[in-house]
This record gives sequence, structure tokens and C-alpha cells, in this order.
Amino acid sequence: MTGTLTIAGLGPGHEAMVTPEVSAALASATDILGYAPYVSRVPPRPGLRLHPSDNREELQRASDALRLAADGGQVVVVSSGDPGVFAMASAVFEALEQAPQYQALPIRVLPGVTAMLAAAAQAGAPLGHDFCAINLSDNLKPWAVIEKRLRLAAEADFAIAMYNPRSASRPDGFGRALAVLKEAGCGGRLVIFARAISSPEERIETVTVDEARDEMADMRTLVIVGNSQTRRVGRWVYAPRRVE
Ligand SMILES: C[S@@+](CC[C@H](N)C(=O)[O-])C[C@H]1O[C@@H](n2cnc3c(N)ncnc32)[C@H](O)[C@@H]1O
Repeated sequence: MTGTLTIAGLGPGHEAMVTPEVSAALASATDILGYAPYVSRVPPRPGLRLHPSDNREELQRASDALRLAADGGQVVVVSSGDPGVFAMASAVFEALEQAPQYQALPIRVLPGVTAMLAAAAQAGAPLGHDFCAINLSDNLKPWAVIEKRLRLAAEADFAIAMYNPRSASRPDGFGRALAVLKEAGCGGRLVIFARAISSPEERIETVTVDEARDEMADMRTLVIVGNSQTRRVGRWVYAPRRVE
């Protein structure tokens, strides 16, 4: 086995947020696999094979990547943001568990700037105190688990970053998440809607949970719910470092 498999994060969108380590891996790759919109962010060049695929095909993509690397390719699987945050790194390790013959392959995971951190930086410092991240997609976990985690995160007064808040196939989940927060007494907390961060369509809007509406979120939005102390200063939103 002379090939390698690299699982790399492309950051939230802007080229300047791709790390030099990831750029170097892309420059020496023979094969790039990933969800089509992410693969399209890698410029084509002679000798580079691009393998775009659909977004529900993570496990198949991961198996294909392992096979290509075992055949000698310098294979890079790309994710947006960070590959370990609701992305391809876990899918590759799931595939590896099912295919022990590939366990000797050299595998690297290269971090990227995850959407939550890029969004927080644009808003100010809403993750400056304790926080958690929750994926609102119920494709791979029951909705009851999401509700329980939201309720407990609200009770523990974490700031909460929400990935995958709302899609065409899941139009109601985000509204239900808002209802859970209101029931938990968080209606007055600030909530940041950070859309298409680091792209030309970037938009940031901050309201309270009570003022938030379902349609303020889509699949290009990262939502950050502040903790009970999160406040505004000028145009910024931040969580103070001290909690009494
Ligand atoms: C499948 S998850 C992938 C997360 C990615 N691995 C990361 O670390 O950012 C996709 C979700 O990430 C968030 N997201 C990704 N890029 C974003 C961006 N540029 N602006 C806002 N949210 C983004 C959205 O919530 C989107 O629905």
C-alpha cells in the first residue's frame, strides 16, 4: 500500500480560510472526493481526478476513498469547515471499522475553520464562555435525542451552536427547537443567525429567541443561541468571561 488518505476541512467558504496544510494536501492529491459543492471548490488541474457525489452518500464515498488509497492514490476527502464536525472524518472511520484490510493505510485528518467559529468571530465573541454544538438534523439520530440535548443545554446555561438548522426536507425542526428553548425559559436570550459566512452572500442578524422565526434559518445558516449573560456592545454580541 503506497497510497494515502487525507480527510481535510476547506473552511467556511473564503479561500483565505483554507489552512496552508490543507492547500498543500490538495496540491499533491491525485483524487478528491466529497459532496459536489465542496469538490467544486477545488480547482481542476491535469492529473487530478475529481469525484463529486451526493450528500446522503457519505459511507459509500468513504469506502471509495479507502479503496482508491489502497490502490496507490494520494486521496483527499473534503468537507466544508472542519472534517471532524458533523462531517466526513467520522464516516471514514465508520467505513474503516467495516473494512479492517485498510487499517494499515496512512490516514491524516487535517482541521479546518468550522462554521461555528467563523460565525462567532463575525458576531463578536458569543462562544467566549462555555458552549456546546448540536446538529439539528434528525437523519442519523431520533428527534427526541435532539430535544433532550437542547433542553439540558438550556438548563445548564450553555451557549448553543446549531448546525443544519432547517432544510427543505426538514422544514419544522428548527421551529420545534425554538419552542423547546422558550419552554425552558430562554425566550429573552439573544440568538444570532449567521448565513453563508465568509462568502459574498454573508448575512448576520441578531434577535431574541422570542423574536426568532423559522424562516430566518436555512441550510446555509449557523445559529448561535447565547447564554443567559450574553449581551450586545455596539454592533457586537459577546459572552462575558465571568459567571456569578
Ligand atoms: C453538514 S454541516 C457541516 C459542518 C462543517 N463540517 C463545519 O465544520 O462547519 C453543514 C452545516 O454547517 C453550517 N455551515 C457550514 N458552512 C457555513 C457557512 N459558511 N455559514 C454558515 N453556516 C455554515 C450550516 O449550519 C450547515 O447547515
